[in-house]
Formats: sequence, C-alpha cells, structure tokens
Amino acid sequence: MMKKLFSKEDIEGAVKRLASLIEKDFEGEDILFVCLLKGSFVFTSDLVRCIRNPSKVDFMRVSSYGNAMESKGEISVTKDLEEDIKDRNVVIVEDIIDSGLTLKSIREMLEKRKPKMLKICALVDKRARREVEIEGDYIGFTIDDGFIVGYGIDYAELYRNYPEIYVVEDDKGTG
Ligand code: IMP
Ligand code: MG
Repeated sequence: MMKKLFSKEDIEGAVKRLASLIEKDFEGEDILFVCLLKGSFVFTSDLVRCIRNPSKVDFMRVSSYGNAMESKGEISVTKDLEEDIKDRNVVIVEDIIDSGLTLKSIREMLEKRKPKMLKICALVDKRARREVEIEGDYIGFTIDDGFIVGYGIDYAELYRNYPEIYVVEDDKGTG
C-alpha cells in the first residue's frame, strides 16, 4: 500500500527553497551540479531550472551492494563524471541520505580530485538512520523512517515516474 507523503506543491516549495539557498551561497559563481543516477534525475532537473548561476550538469552512477531496500556502503562507480572537478564549485545532488554510507564514499572520492568547494544537496534526509558521519548542506525534507518512492526514487526500478512522493507501507498488521 502507498500513502502520499509529499505533494507536488510540497516538493516545488522545497526545491525553490534549496535553489535560493544555493544561489545565495554561490553569489553568481559557476556551479557544477553532480546528479547521482538514477534517483536524483528528476530532482536535479527541477533544481537546476530554479538556479540562474552559470551552471553545468554532470552525471555519476554508483552501485552499492545490498538489497533493494538498503545499501551496504561498498560502492563501485559504474559511470564516472566527464567533467574535471579540480578547482570547481561542485554541488552533489542526491535523492536520499539514509545510512550515509553511499554519500560518504562519494564525497571522499570527489574530495581527492580537489574541488574548490564541495556541497551536498539532498531532497530527503533520514537522519535517524545515519550510520556514519555525514551532513547534507542543503536538505529538502527530514523524515524519521519509512521506505519512499516517486519523484525519481524507486522501489525495484518502479515508481520513478510518479510526480509525488509516497511511503510504501506493508500490508501486514492492522490493515
Ligand atoms: P545510504 O547509503 O544508506 O545512505 O543509501 C542511500 C541510497 O539508498 C539512496 O541514494 C537511495 O538510492 C537508497 N534509498 C535509501 N532509502 C530509500 C528509500 O526510502 N526509497 C528508495 N531508495 C532508498
Ligand atoms: Mg540512489
């Protein structure tokens, strides 16, 4: 069963708020947005369209070993960036920070390439589930727990096309 958690309007409000924070922090400077595939493709496309800085977008895909609901933190890069990020302002755009393992590995990997600035923008932060120390710089929503889908976010590759965000609830229990 799926229950709507964030409407299109909720999401639009969050995206505009994040975009204006980013614009303020970077004051007209160039920005390279790193869209982490696949989960943040919808979020990135909305976010960058609210930002007027001279911007470029690049894509990176990592796979983490684990099951459909959880990552385990060992990641491998299946598609690397095409841009050289040395001395650039970089904003990583991620769908969800859960345990934090994925983003921590990605951040460490990108830090080694010596960007001028490296910030993290995440649509959803499941802060209570964090296993490693990592903080997003720009966070859309903070939620306690629950598995979510929609707005680019999948369950077994499905539901990325839904414009709203839903919580997937299992049917056991009171129903
Ligand atoms: P982490 O490494 O545990 O922080 O996992 C982050 C990644 O796990 C996200 O980029 C998502 O791809 C996936 N993930 C975590 N929670 C959810 C969820 O509720 N729905 C769908 N994917 C999720
Ligand atoms: Mg993901």
